[in-house]
Amino acid sequence: MNPLADLRKDYSQASLDELSVRKDPFQQFEVWLNEALEAQLPEPNAMVLSTVGSDGSPSSRVVLIKGLNLQGIVFYTNYQSVKGQQIAQNPRASLLFFWPELERQVRIEGLLEKVSPEESDAYFHSRPLESRIGAWASSQSQPVDSREALAQAFDDFRNKLGSEPPRPEHWGGYRLSPHRFEFWQGRPSRLHDRIEFQREGAEGSDAQKHWQVRRLSP
Ligand SMILES: Cc1cc2nc3c(=O)[nH]c(=O)nc-3n(C[C@H](O)[C@H](O)[C@H](O)COP(=O)(O)O)c2cc1C
Repeated sequence: MNPLADLRKDYSQASLDELSVRKDPFQQFEVWLNEALEAQLPEPNAMVLSTVGSDGSPSSRVVLIKGLNLQGIVFYTNYQSVKGQQIAQNPRASLLFFWPELERQVRIEGLLEKVSPEESDAYFHSRPLESRIGAWASSQSQPVDSREALAQAFDDFRNKLGSEPPRPEHWGGYRLSPHRFEFWQGRPSRLHDRIEFQREGAEGSDAQKHWQVRRLSP
């Protein structure tokens, strides 16, 4: 017997249509993100970031959204990590939010670029001291001999850097400039609502933002 085969859920909480959706996908995303925050979901700001290396193999992991404006969506990480190396080879990426309690999914696709050093500095210095030391102590995605070795590196950096560690150059933000959004709202009988926004014109953060809006089959 396969218990997974019989595991399914019917969706009935809400709907999304061509009239109620905002004209601007950033606004629509902000509405849904705020509703996820207000609903006090566990980690409403967590999103799956997928990147692709030079060999074409995709790789996904969770990161936290730290900023949102008309230029794009910002997260912070280690520039030398696997994702950092992949982004250097290929700036195309996708972000995925899944808010199961609201029966919603948002897919966002676009191009990544590093935020300015000043923007990364500002966010870095807003973080708790332990997180700032951790950015120095962790060579993210590199093998480490043991938990003890990691703890030792943390202690060494704490002693060396004191209470005001600078931002390491290998740590900072990326901004995804979207060219596609898709808002998915679960509906009964698997007739889910899917509203897609596709940007018309060239890619890149300075491109003009005209959006083609379409309903997609579930
Ligand atoms: C809830 C959650 C939030 C996370 N937030 C971040 C983040 O904001 N930045 C980050 O670099 N890694 C974050 N991580 C860790 C990443 O998922 C991943 O393990 C790490 O970035 C290394 O990924 P890479 O080897 O593909 O570069 C988070 C993990 C989880 C589960």
